[in-house]
Amino acid sequence: MTPNDREQKVKSLIDKLCLTRDLKRSEWTELIRERTPASAEYLFERARAVRIRCYGHDIYIRGLIEFTNYCRNDCYYCGIRRSNSNAVRYRLTKEDILACCEEGYRLGFRTFVLQGGEDGWFTDERLCDIVSEIRAHFPDCAITLSVGERSYDSYKKLYDAGADRYLLRHETYDAEHYGRLHPASLSASHRQKCLRDLKKIGYQVGTGFMVGSPYQTPENLADDMLFLSRLNPQMVGIGPFIPHHETPFAHMPAGTAELTLFMLGLIRLLLPRVLLPATTALGTIAEDGREKGILAGANVVMPNLSPAQVREKYLLYDNKLCTGDEAAESLNSLKTRMEKIGYHIAVSRGDSLNI
Ligand code: 5AD
Repeated sequence: MTPNDREQKVKSLIDKLCLTRDLKRSEWTELIRERTPASAEYLFERARAVRIRCYGHDIYIRGLIEFTNYCRNDCYYCGIRRSNSNAVRYRLTKEDILACCEEGYRLGFRTFVLQGGEDGWFTDERLCDIVSEIRAHFPDCAITLSVGERSYDSYKKLYDAGADRYLLRHETYDAEHYGRLHPASLSASHRQKCLRDLKKIGYQVGTGFMVGSPYQTPENLADDMLFLSRLNPQMVGIGPFIPHHETPFAHMPAGTAELTLFMLGLIRLLLPRVLLPATTALGTIAEDGREKGILAGANVVMPNLSPAQVREKYLLYDNKLCTGDEAAESLNSLKTRMEKIGYHIAVSRGDSLNI
């Protein structure tokens, strides 16, 4: 095939995705492997049209509260892994967390995302207490949890305490690839079971993966897309892998903004009504990553609401943005940046159309 033929083939696969939302594994693989700048533009135009049809020009914001960086796990890519003895560990108190929510509410946030490592200190009892207190104080807000793998019973208690949504990236669908990113105590199948449990309980579920993680192939990404299609989550978070200097992957190459944007466009076409953030990691590897993410089909941004003194301690990867427009205080400048590309930030819970 000539380069021109290949480009036509990729465009026809994008058309097929748009029309049927159903590609075979080999088609996903070809679409990802053979992408070009021109086919990416073609994709983004379609992804934007679908996004605007579903959500107009609204951008939903979520206030991210990184409330503990203790973690029992030892994921090879992550800066807050257990073995990183140089990480300065912290935990926010219930009062700290509620103060973050107060501030966030004042700024216009109506979704709070409580994200943390898998920290045994936060038993069901402690976490349920925090969730129910936020629920009582902020009845018009959505509460999202992102605290890793827990039992069905634990997820159920947290749901009953008032949590509405749960973010748990599947990281990579393929068990073998999963095994190269994680120690043997973690498995792709258990991660996927957690996601099914969360759905069964009634959470709005978010999953996702890193783009350009070590050893990732186009086939792996194809499997990720097929998994998304089966799970049909309300949210999908993806961002480039970025090495952290105190992890086993310190010297692995970072993922690219280019492939991340392409995957965002594909996800928008596959799941038209999905909530799709332009993530901090995307903003970290490219100066205008957030804007480009929105223009590729994303419709959510998640500024940091954590207290300033702990932000630099929640370092999943090197150079993670936590000031400037990442910070909830600079919502105004984020607003301006989004308005420059024709979008506006909504003050609402920003529920998925898909619940
Ligand atoms: N680069 C990019 N993303 C990372 N995450 C963890 N470590 C890294 C890294 N080095 C992502 C994982 C996790 C989410 C909270 O952050 O996908 O699910």
